[in-house]
Amino acid sequence: MGQALGRLLRERGESIAAIASRRPERAALAAAFVGGTAQPATYAELPQHAARILIAVPDDAIGPVARLLADAGMHHGTALHTSGAHGPEALAPLAAAGVACGTLHPLQTVANPAEDVRVLPGVAFAIDGAPEAVAWARQLVALLDGLPLNIPGPSRPLYHAAAVMASNYLTALISTAVMLMNEAGVGEAAARLALAPLAHTSVENAFRLGPSAALTGPIARGDADTVRGHLAALAKAPAAVVGLYRAAGLATLEIARRRGLAEVEGGAIEELLRQGERCD
Ligand SMILES: NC(=O)c1ccc[n+]([C@@H]2O[C@H](COP(=O)([O-])OP(=O)(O)OC[C@H]3O[C@@H](n4cnc5c(N)ncnc54)[C@H](OP(=O)(O)O)[C@@H]3O)[C@@H](O)[C@H]2O)c1
Repeated sequence: MGQALGRLLRERGESIAAIASRRPERAALAAAFVGGTAQPATYAELPQHAARILIAVPDDAIGPVARLLADAGMHHGTALHTSGAHGPEALAPLAAAGVACGTLHPLQTVANPAEDVRVLPGVAFAIDGAPEAVAWARQLVALLDGLPLNIPGPSRPLYHAAAVMASNYLTALISTAVMLMNEAGVGEAAARLALAPLAHTSVENAFRLGPSAALTGPIARGDADTVRGHLAALAKAPAAVVGLYRAAGLATLEIARRRGLAEVEGGAIEELLRQGERCD
C-alpha cells in the first residue's frame, strides 16, 4: 500500500522525500518504484527527511513504528496511518511528542504495488484525526480523485466490518461456490471461469440497480422446494459451508421480503433456513 500510494502521489504532484523500510535493499527498491527524488531511508532517518509521514505497515507494527519515529526526533509535523481497523490513537507515541496524527484508510483491496497503482485512484478513503492531519489527508484524497469519508472513532468498527464483508467475505463466498462446483464435478479452473460472469454481473447489478432490483433466484421467487433441495444436497458439507448457505439465505430472504415476497412463501423458506440452526 505504501509503495502504491507513494508512486501515485508522486505522479500527481506530491513531493516524496524518502521511503523507509526495515531493510536497506527493500527501501532502495521501494524508492525506485516510487520514483522522482524519493530517497531510501531507515525509519530512524525519516524525521530528517520530512515533517509529514504516511505510515503503511501491518496493523500490529503501527505503534512500534510510531514509537521509533518519536524516539528518532519527530516532534512536530503530521503523521497518518492507512489502517481501517485502528484510529489515530495507534500513533499515540507521536501524538504525545507533538505530532498531529490521523488516519487515511483506502477502501480498496490491493495485492501488489503495480496493480494498486491502477485500482486506487477514485476510491473512497476513511479519514479521522487531528485537524492538521485531516487537512493533509483531504489534500491527498483530492490528489487521488478520491471520495473522503469522515469516520469518527465510535463508527470505525462498523465501517471496517462493512469493508470486510464487501471484500474478504465476498472472497469467502466465491471460494465456497467454487468448492461446491468442484463437488458437482467441475474442475477448479473451469469452475472459476464458469462462475465469474455470474458473480461479476451480480455485483455490478447490486451496486448499479440496488439489491432489491438486482436480486434473482429461488428465494426471490419464493421457491421453497429448491431451497429444500439445496439443503439436502449440502447435508454432508462442512458445517461452515452449510452455515454460510443458511446465513446468506436469511439475508437474501430479507431483501426478497422488502420487495414484496408473500409471507406464506417467505415463512416457509425461513423455516427451512432456520431448521439447521436448531439442529446445529
Ligand atoms: N493491502 C490492502 O489491501 C490494504 C487495504 C487498505 C488498507 N491497508 C492498510 O495498509 C497498511 C499496510 O498494508 P499492506 O497490505 O501494504 O501491508 P504489508 O504488505 O503486509 O506490509 C507493508 C510493509 O510493512 C513493512 N513491515 C512489515 N512488518 C513490519 C514491522 N513489524 N515493522 C515495521 N515495518 C514492517 C514491510 O516492509 P519491509 O519489509 O520493507 O520493512 C512491508 O512490506 C495496513 O495498515 C493495512 O491495514 C491495506
